[in-house]
Amino acid sequence: MPRPARPNQPSPSRSRRPQGDHRARQPAHEYVLDALPGLEAVAEAELRAVPLARDIRGLRFWYPGDPARLTRLRAPVAVYRVRAWEVPRPRGLLGHQPFGELTAFLAGVARWGGHRSFRLAAAGRESSVLARLADELQAALLLPHDPEEGELLIRLRPREDGPGWEVLARLTPRPLSARSWRVCNREGGLNATVAYALHRLAGQREEDRIFNPMSGSGTLLVERALMGPYDALVGVDVDPEAVECARSNLRAAGRAVEVACVDALHTGLPPRSFDLIVSDLPWGGAIGTHSGNAVLYPAFLREMHRLLSRQGRLVVLTHELRLFERVLREQDRWHARELFQVYSGGHWPRAYLLQKR
Ligand SMILES: C[S@@+](CC[C@H](N)C(=O)[O-])C[C@H]1O[C@@H](n2cnc3c(N)ncnc32)[C@H](O)[C@@H]1O
Repeated sequence: MPRPARPNQPSPSRSRRPQGDHRARQPAHEYVLDALPGLEAVAEAELRAVPLARDIRGLRFWYPGDPARLTRLRAPVAVYRVRAWEVPRPRGLLGHQPFGELTAFLAGVARWGGHRSFRLAAAGRESSVLARLADELQAALLLPHDPEEGELLIRLRPREDGPGWEVLARLTPRPLSARSWRVCNREGGLNATVAYALHRLAGQREEDRIFNPMSGSGTLLVERALMGPYDALVGVDVDPEAVECARSNLRAAGRAVEVACVDALHTGLPPRSFDLIVSDLPWGGAIGTHSGNAVLYPAFLREMHRLLSRQGRLVVLTHELRLFERVLREQDRWHARELFQVYSGGHWPRAYLLQKR
């Protein structure tokens, strides 16, 4: 565990160690989670359920346990181990003592995560100081510097809670949002952390019969299947390639879930077949067209009203905000509230929870 007792390190009180921290008995590292903008609250709620995570300040916390537990979090896109140095500029990290500490810190993360290369991320990444830091780290860590694809992502930034700079080292070679089950991707595929957030906020009930119309590559299906028991889980998509793609991902996740090549608006299923319907609708950019959506959205709400049980929940994610909100205003059968708005893939889609009036 890094003990901030050396001259260039912040003192224990200034680094905001948790009170009552008996370091000799419970070595801890400080970590910070990175979540998509808009999903911070979901990530924090998930973090709060991690036993041993303490002194939680937003997405920052101390943790003495096995880092593997942190890599199983599903709402953040990445988890970083973080350490601060009281240096006025990044150049200070090249000093003999800070550089030795920095190398030990990074080597600890690389040893744990099995990273095979590294890259630096900081404002002014091209500056001569950072170039020198990259050279020195390459020699000290015995890892190649790969500025574009480096697996050990090292971020430098001014400290949030005092003077100095902090270094964040990503625990895993790939982001947590790049799920190991994803063997097939498609244009318009949902970021898995958004799918996780939709299910968390929709509520997770063992008795739910769940429908995922327009399932695409199956992100919502896989994420729900991995969360725990349900009564039934089915997806449909009109595109046979999407159906195959979802099936491949579900197989890779080791989950048996039914996916069929069926029009979501004409399933032929009896009324009130489902207790939870979750869907990210075509947005009219890469997937679908704006004029098509103007017809699809009202028809979708009508058919989902028929398929949903009386107390059921319909969760919708869309980037066609104006259209969706207009369609909501023009009907009186649903009560809707916003769950979140998230920045993902260059867009700000919004999630809604709808219940029958
Ligand atoms: C935004 S994408 C879904 C992305 C998916 N959540 C994923 O992670 O890959 C929308 C999907 O809706 C499908 N779709 C469009 N109209 C449909 C309809 N009437 N019935 C079923 N699927 C439909 C498209 O084929 C496309 O795969």
